[in-house]
Amino acid sequence: MNNEIQASITQLSEQLENYNYQYYVLDEPSVPDAEYDRVFQQLLKLEEVSPGHPLANSPTQKVGGLALSKFEQVTHQKPMLSLDNVFEAQALKDFMKRAQDKSSTANIAFCIEPKLDGLAASIIYENGLLIQAATRGDGQTGENVTENVKTIKNLPLKLRGENIPPLLEVRGEVFMLKAGFDKLNKKLSDAGEKPFVNPRNAAAGSLRQLDSKVAASRPLGFYCYAVGVFEGELANSQFERIEQLKGWGLPVSEEVKQVTGEQACLDYYQAIGEKRPDLAYEIDGVVYKVDNIALQETLGFVARAPRWATAFKFPAEEAVTIIENVEFQVGRTGAITPVAKLKPVFVGGVTVSNATLHNKDEIKRLGILIGDEVVVRRAGDVIPQVARVLLDKRDLQKTQPIVFPDVCPVCESRVERIEGEATIRCTGGLYCGAQRKEAIKHFASRKALDIDGLGNKLVELLVEHNLIASPAQLFDLTTEQLSSLPRMGAVSAKKLINSLQISKKTTLARFLYSLGIREVGEATANNLANHYQTIEAVKVASVENLQAVSDVGEIVAKHIYYFFRQEHNIEVVNQLLEAGIHWPEIKKVAESELSLTGQIFVITGSFNVMSRSDIKTALQDLGAKVAGSVSKKTTTVIAGEAAGSKLTKAQELGIEIMDEETLLNLLNKI
Ligand code: IVH
Repeated sequence: MNNEIQASITQLSEQLENYNYQYYVLDEPSVPDAEYDRVFQQLLKLEEVSPGHPLANSPTQKVGGLALSKFEQVTHQKPMLSLDNVFEAQALKDFMKRAQDKSSTANIAFCIEPKLDGLAASIIYENGLLIQAATRGDGQTGENVTENVKTIKNLPLKLRGENIPPLLEVRGEVFMLKAGFDKLNKKLSDAGEKPFVNPRNAAAGSLRQLDSKVAASRPLGFYCYAVGVFEGELANSQFERIEQLKGWGLPVSEEVKQVTGEQACLDYYQAIGEKRPDLAYEIDGVVYKVDNIALQETLGFVARAPRWATAFKFPAEEAVTIIENVEFQVGRTGAITPVAKLKPVFVGGVTVSNATLHNKDEIKRLGILIGDEVVVRRAGDVIPQVARVLLDKRDLQKTQPIVFPDVCPVCESRVERIEGEATIRCTGGLYCGAQRKEAIKHFASRKALDIDGLGNKLVELLVEHNLIASPAQLFDLTTEQLSSLPRMGAVSAKKLINSLQISKKTTLARFLYSLGIREVGEATANNLANHYQTIEAVKVASVENLQAVSDVGEIVAKHIYYFFRQEHNIEVVNQLLEAGIHWPEIKKVAESELSLTGQIFVITGSFNVMSRSDIKTALQDLGAKVAGSVSKKTTTVIAGEAAGSKLTKAQELGIEIMDEETLLNLLNKI
């Protein structure tokens, strides 16, 4: 073959390998997708006309190839073990102490890793080339899934860097990215096929596809967490080995840490648990490994698990229970939500007895009947959901359909279903006791008027005792009226009257937010206040005019417009102003300073005042993008407490770092 062509093939292959490495391992894309595709196509063309090509490890081989009729068996040279579990902090401490007792060094280090929720695989590189990949199987023999594993995007077909061992078996987890999983399931459902139950099943199903082109189309990822057999020298520390693997271009989780001490080990468990919803992949716990490899060898194994490692799993996020009934709740804006009343079940670390069913469409999608056995899911702080029905457990004698009400279950007003919306609404407005309660709770809440001492329970009591029917009437309450309520003494009554007084001094943004206009959250209220500066100007604004406000689209503009066209709303606003609610005049900030459009934020660590998701929403409302990982393109990193590798990376890249207080100031200014 022409030497020139050969040289081009080598050069294009290296270029693509670099792009892949920058994108998948360093998490720093260096070229646009179109450039990658261009080089890929160029290489493909040259390989087509060159005898002996494509080579087995060419970057073009990542798209999959021939379909197999079955998988061959592979015997692992070293058995693939599993892990013991601990279920509570004390058991983790005991594990650490047992390891410490076998060492002559004080304060031994542990390598701490997320427990990735996928399936284990062994991948062998010979002279830097990927030659074989196998599933764990029974630990002794697995299946040869080389063709499928080769299509995993973040996995190199060829190692890079210095001192690559002539033989290197890496072990790690094949998983499916959460976002990719959702997309895949949507695609399967749209095509009338059965969706996967969770990302782990989807990863397993994809890895066991005989046609590697199908596997290639699935959003699989791989992270290394161990070395199997190898020739040559490797570091004497688990953590350093992981770093070495990364140095050879292999993907490793960026959450891997080396720590000493019980507290640091427990802190990590806590911190990663909080971060879990934001990770791009599923994890189901933390793996603690003795860091020193010589000490690992001293500790050895019991049965099929090492004594030098243990897994501390998060509480199960799914549990099976029964839907005993379905009730209908009326929200602040009249939306009627079906709520499943469950036989209480322990899931995600708490006992759950209610789960939202969202709306009719969701119930239809799930195919639920009252009396069904269902899987309930509670992930992080997210409200419990019914994930799926166990159809084969259905007993037709004991189940009955869910019937939606024709009238509001609270005030018996007419119910309407708006075209194109899945939700039904009570038309009662503030006539409806439920909406009244919710409106007042919202009015008093922390981000609204922040009325100290006026919690949800008290609002319910006040409405039930007919002491108030609208937010404005809060300010007419007397100490005598309040003291007449159950469990309310004169002292608390006086305190509440006092905080009601204090709450009258507020901001226009908070006031607008407190009115509970549909789809007007904190950020939109801020934008409105800054744009119009007075309540009078907001009141008279037209739908078109409102759309000039940053981030206000037609739908939100209409909600605002119609809110101020309803007499009882105007009445409430006027009564509130008459009651003495006021705010300092607003200094206008230029629109251009307002918008965070084009900026890319990354949120890391834990926060005291705002939750991660609130921060995310607030930034997005201002036009910013919120990304999951730090790259050169990141504009600002919002770093809370115990921020880890993302913060370090931001510092290395010289990216602006903002703490919670500065962020709060910024948001308030806006
Ligand atoms: S180490 C000898 N590290 O958990 C130790 N396993 O329950 C072998 N897993 O089969 C495993 N993340 O599939 C290790 N960081 C991690 C892991 C991990 C997930 C899986 C792995 C293993 C299973 C054992």
